[in-house]
Amino acid sequence: MARKTKPTYLSVVGRSLPRKDAREKTTGQAKFVDDYTREDMLHAATVRSPRPHIRIRGVDAREALALDGVVAVYTAGDVPGVNQVHLVYDDYPLLADKTAKFMGQAVALVVAETRELAKRAAKLVRLDYEELPAVYDPLEAMKKKSPTVYGEDNIFKSFKIRKGNLKQGFAQADVIHEKIYTSNYQVQGYIETQGMLAEPGADGSLTIYGSLQCPNYVLDAVAGCLALPHSRVRIVQTITGGAFGGKEDVPSIVASHAGLCALKTGRPVKLIYDREEDFQSMSKRHPGWVSIKYGAKKDGTLTACQVKYILDGGAFATLSPIVLWRGTCHAAGPYDIPNVWVDAHAVATNKVPCGAFRGFGQPQVAWANESAMDELSGKLGMDPLALRRKNLMELGDRTITNHVIRENCGAAEVFDQVIKAIDWDKKWAPPAKKTGALRRGLGIASSIYGVGLGAFGKHLDRASAHLQVNKDGSVTVAVGNTDMGQGAQTVLVQIAAEGLGAPYDQVEMMAPDTSRVPDSGPTVASRTTVMSGNAILDACRILRERIDPVARELLEATPKARMLTADGSYYAEGSPRKKVAFAEVIAKCYARRVNMATQGYYRVEGTTFDLETGLGDAYQTYTWSTVAVEVEVDMETGEVTVLDFVSGHDIGKAVNPQLAEGQIQGGGVQGIGYGLFENLIVKDGVLVNPSFTGYIMPTTMDLPAELRAIIVEQPWSGGPCGARGLGEPPLILSAPALANAIYNAVGRRIRDLPVLPEKIVLARERGD
Ligand code: MOS
Repeated sequence: MARKTKPTYLSVVGRSLPRKDAREKTTGQAKFVDDYTREDMLHAATVRSPRPHIRIRGVDAREALALDGVVAVYTAGDVPGVNQVHLVYDDYPLLADKTAKFMGQAVALVVAETRELAKRAAKLVRLDYEELPAVYDPLEAMKKKSPTVYGEDNIFKSFKIRKGNLKQGFAQADVIHEKIYTSNYQVQGYIETQGMLAEPGADGSLTIYGSLQCPNYVLDAVAGCLALPHSRVRIVQTITGGAFGGKEDVPSIVASHAGLCALKTGRPVKLIYDREEDFQSMSKRHPGWVSIKYGAKKDGTLTACQVKYILDGGAFATLSPIVLWRGTCHAAGPYDIPNVWVDAHAVATNKVPCGAFRGFGQPQVAWANESAMDELSGKLGMDPLALRRKNLMELGDRTITNHVIRENCGAAEVFDQVIKAIDWDKKWAPPAKKTGALRRGLGIASSIYGVGLGAFGKHLDRASAHLQVNKDGSVTVAVGNTDMGQGAQTVLVQIAAEGLGAPYDQVEMMAPDTSRVPDSGPTVASRTTVMSGNAILDACRILRERIDPVARELLEATPKARMLTADGSYYAEGSPRKKVAFAEVIAKCYARRVNMATQGYYRVEGTTFDLETGLGDAYQTYTWSTVAVEVEVDMETGEVTVLDFVSGHDIGKAVNPQLAEGQIQGGGVQGIGYGLFENLIVKDGVLVNPSFTGYIMPTTMDLPAELRAIIVEQPWSGGPCGARGLGEPPLILSAPALANAIYNAVGRRIRDLPVLPEKIVLARERGD
């Protein structure tokens, strides 16, 4: 059951305060990277591999260089440092040297006086190449006779989980369900394409401004490629127009390209992608192949689950090993299952490298396990809701990595609230009862979500925050994590204001800049509120030890009186009527020469993962979610209308409820796109529809009137003010919930994403 604890912070955290960036974004004053200009600035464009797998014999830039206004053309030989974009493995050259392994891979850079000229000249760079045998399907790539893309076996990384005794588990089962569920690419679809501005300093330093999620990933890559010490490179995040994982690792490439051009020419260089090259060369959600087998007793008790999970990684490893790990740890759903085996592989193919996209390997497995749970319920003759409710994890249960959940397991509370909100019991009927040309159906899906990087990424899981209280009582905050539209800036300022007792409108966040705070890990994996939030609270604790004695004195309180804060004032516990304003306390601190700046730090402790068994306390904490939807299907055209959408999450504490609701709605919409619309077609390594004309994403016209968010707050003792992460979970469950609802309406099961109308019509005709 929910444990109700009284929050210690109440003044600023938990309120739907206006976003810090609302005014500049809504008035159009916000400056994105392409809005920046510099005197003497040059523009770069990228020359790309025209085919999926080539051996490069030569690059002929004479025609391009002959154009008036073209300054230079750079190839692999011009890279001053290591020609590798450093990330998990060092397999991805900054500029292709002898071979290129996917269509769109960068081979050369053209620098010119204008962008148009740079792009025109890029088309004039002639590549002399021969085509090599290529492989496009991960299952083919795993075969012995396949062309080689990576290593000896085309496998970037494998993981396994061995929990319990699989054979015994299936022997105990009365009913077994086993099927394969596949999913397609998904493109992040950020409105602002990738872009960077690199500016060389007279002293040999380099500053790079750009659209990015992870300043320190970019710093590591730029410093390595350009052979510069970290102290000579500054990465500054400009206001970022969406990212969703798509600006996690690949901005390192764009920044290193721009940096190379700037360093070589000695002039500022801007590199902005157009939409088509962004589609062709930047990371995407991995196509997934999941074979899943569940065993259950007659009463619905799950006894075993076996998962084979394959991700199509594309030509270079980028983040695939880590994406695979998250999927592996979540492969069987939020259920208490004693015996679970998982075998997972990230596989190389001659296609655009896949990487991070909100959910990070989980949407593919959740699609499989939540579809399979529905099918299993059918075989058992149970309501899909009853099967889930019976097996949902509770306190004391073990995850598939054998992690015992000892604190805040809101799975059941969320589930019950969601089914009540959608009125499941009254509305649900089996498919056999449905008739007519338009049929309605209900679908549900649930998940467990490990917050943060987890055991496999623990070497990166820390964060710093710099807090400076100025003498007028305003506060400057700097953190290493970024805001890319999700609202981190606002939420983190709320936490800082709460911790210091400062008025919210007096606290401001600096633009992320690698010279301000040490590496705080990437802004990913729903970790920012927890990581940077805790680092800020650590800094607040240090400052409060200095401020509180001064406040006590001003309030004429006893030396032991506890200082509390509300509405930008300090008061002694038990005497709320006698107050002193924050600014007044700070003025006194300055008069006393108290040190008013400090650094806070937080790091994750205690996560474990044994590579041999796949067992361990994989994550610090988990967010619990359930999504229920109601759809209407046109039986003739297969068209699906989403009538109702209820998305519930136990997130510990909503620091800003309205922003949390926005995250839930935005993620839900991206999940609806993943489930019903978004269909990137890649034929023999060639993208067929690399634009928003051919690649269809949902708009408001495709959505129900309301996306209903349910927030459950079972506080986490390790979270800032009790909070856990929320960024990724809202996307994960839309697709399986929709497919389950479509099954409920039509009586046909689609096991390949996206669930396009033609698949529904064909399934009806074939009687699948
Ligand atoms: Mo996120 S997909 O972990 O950037």
